[in-house]
Amino acid sequence: MENIIIANESVLLESHQPEDVLHREGQKQVLIDCVKPASSGKRIRNIFLYGPPGTGKTLLTRWTMAELEKAANRIKTIYVNCWSRSTAYAVLGEILHQAEIFVSPRESMLSMTRKFENMVKSPERKFIIALDEVDQLASTEILYDVSRSGAGLVCISNNPYALSNVDDRIKSSLQVEGAEFPAYTADQVADIIGQRAKYGLAPNSILRDDVKMIARMCNGDARVGIEMLRKAALIAENENKRKISAEHIRKAFDEAKFMRKSKSEARLNDDEMEILKIIRSENRINATHIYEKYSEKVSSPVTERAVRKYLKKFSKLGLIGHEGDVRWREYFAV
Ligand SMILES: Nc1ncnc2c1ncn2[C@@H]1O[C@H](COP(=O)(O)OP(=O)(O)O)[C@@H](O)[C@H]1O
Ligand SMILES: [Mg+2]
Repeated sequence: MENIIIANESVLLESHQPEDVLHREGQKQVLIDCVKPASSGKRIRNIFLYGPPGTGKTLLTRWTMAELEKAANRIKTIYVNCWSRSTAYAVLGEILHQAEIFVSPRESMLSMTRKFENMVKSPERKFIIALDEVDQLASTEILYDVSRSGAGLVCISNNPYALSNVDDRIKSSLQVEGAEFPAYTADQVADIIGQRAKYGLAPNSILRDDVKMIARMCNGDARVGIEMLRKAALIAENENKRKISAEHIRKAFDEAKFMRKSKSEARLNDDEMEILKIIRSENRINATHIYEKYSEKVSSPVTERAVRKYLKKFSKLGLIGHEGDVRWREYFAV
């Protein structure tokens, strides 16, 4: 079947980088003001970007970093997602890797720290390091090391309190400014979706009113809105229609409802997935029993402590709930 509605599917994916970042003028300005001193070799003000999912935090950060690098040779920007790199060791390794500094597979933490400090000391270059999903860090110590080194830090999180329980020593060396990313209004998100439709779909395949309908349904989350647009287009195309209708959008909405959850799941490792399955197969289960079942199932289980960490992570993601005081706590799937 030929593609009659979708002209360029990659534009309809989350990973697509649009040319313009819409409706984030204020946040863009705050971010630029903080990091701009780097272009004249001065110290950067650290900044914390926070707000619910799908509000353009990652996009604006990456966009601004790319602009800065284009504008000033001396600036080197580094972006790390702490979800996939949650230990100080992994974060530092990734920073050095992106700075094209060789790290051997068994390099010690001490040696990596030295390499990092030397790298940042260089008078010709200014480093700006973005740590996305910073709440996923196993320890906040790395924030202290990075901010004391003289590199600029951009911390990002869905959780506005992600940095509020770092210890005072780290806090005072961080001195972060904050920029809030509130959920988009329906009109704003309609513009964002409209832009994706313009570049991703054949002309006139969706009416402006239907773009607005998607915008009203996605609760200010551009990620969900864009995914709904893509799904609606696929559904319409499957029915050999030339236009997306309200009916297609309603079907897409039903499918997209589960999106956030399955997306979180897609990022779990094998051990985490095994544990989640165990919780799902039980009504309620405590951590000790989870661990027993899990270690029977896999050949080389992670430690009980690691499993407790996973449980915390699942709660944060809304994959499980729990009830009862710490010691007697029982977990259940949601
Ligand atoms: N202001 C915007 N203009 C254009 N596209 C946007 C805007 N905000 C978000 N998007 C798109 O929505 C999706 C989610 O944005 P993202 O920056 O990943 O959100 P967050 O990091 O806040 O969860 C991405 O595909 C992004 O390109
Ligand atoms: Mg993000």
